[in-house]
Amino acid sequence: MRDELEQAGRQALEEISRAKNESELEQVRIRFLGRKGKVTLLLRSLGDLSDEDRPAMGKLANQVKEKIEKSLAQRVQALGSQVREAVPSLDITLPGRKWWTGGLHPLTQATQEIVEIFTSLGFRVATGPEVETEYYNFEALNFPKDHPARDMQDTYYLGDDLLLRTHTSPVQIRVMESQGPPVRVVMPGRVYRNEEINPRSFTVFYQVEGLYVDQHVTFGDLKGVLAAFVERFFGPKTSLRFRPSFFPFTEPSAEVDIGCFICQGKGCRVCKRTGWLEILGAGMVDPAVLEAVNYDPEEVSGYAFGMGVDRISMLRYGIDDIRLFYENDLRFLQQF
Ligand code: PHE
Repeated sequence: MRDELEQAGRQALEEISRAKNESELEQVRIRFLGRKGKVTLLLRSLGDLSDEDRPAMGKLANQVKEKIEKSLAQRVQALGSQVREAVPSLDITLPGRKWWTGGLHPLTQATQEIVEIFTSLGFRVATGPEVETEYYNFEALNFPKDHPARDMQDTYYLGDDLLLRTHTSPVQIRVMESQGPPVRVVMPGRVYRNEEINPRSFTVFYQVEGLYVDQHVTFGDLKGVLAAFVERFFGPKTSLRFRPSFFPFTEPSAEVDIGCFICQGKGCRVCKRTGWLEILGAGMVDPAVLEAVNYDPEEVSGYAFGMGVDRISMLRYGIDDIRLFYENDLRFLQQF
């Protein structure tokens, strides 16, 4: 029995050292330590021995069993680290890599927000070309031939009759030419002006234009829709004020201010101590404009408004230089 035990032990250790993977190791374990394994059967036959031989044999049998178990455990570990070495590129303990996600430019976000407010009030969205003709940008909007805005100093001419639009108002004309009244549209877009570049003005900026033409449209309707807009965009307690102004394509015309939300109207640096911030131009569509698109000014009337998205966003976020919108510095953009 002693020989049998010692032989089984040696054989087991040799087979363990030759096992190439965990399932082969498991086969070895079953062959020696399983229910019908060699060592198990020897242990079970201890009962047949005489009282004198049993203790010594029992001790040896247990030593052999323990040796095999220990060797099995060591081999399992060794095989495991070999697997890890074989695939060094997969380190599951490394944190994952973050994907770069794109974001919408703050001016795009503001434009979308403005447009959404007006579409919820029943306005449809329309767009027009950035390269325009003098007719759409000026003539049809009732700008006289000698109006200073037509000057090369304010307008980028592209030669012949073409120019970069200086406002989104030409889209009013294009929409009204394409359909009869009633029209209720918002027209977002990029516009260009030959301006001095400084913290307050840039050569490119964004506008959102609005137009409503129907029977019996009044200045009161204009006030109502702008009040609703200002409340939604700047907050419910924002006050609103209309100042008389002039645009060739509206009569009467107004510039619209909101109560300064920084100082609550008390006067601060942002509102230049006036308590008010100018946010848009507006007015009743001039009959000459309606005539230019073959609408009958006796039958229909309308209002129009136009706001600068850059200016509104600067006010809202306290941005003091318009050029930040166009430099694409991630440190700026990532804040929105
Ligand atoms: N087009 C004008 C501008 O760019 C704004 C405006 C639009 C004013 C519609 C009145 C009506 O300054």
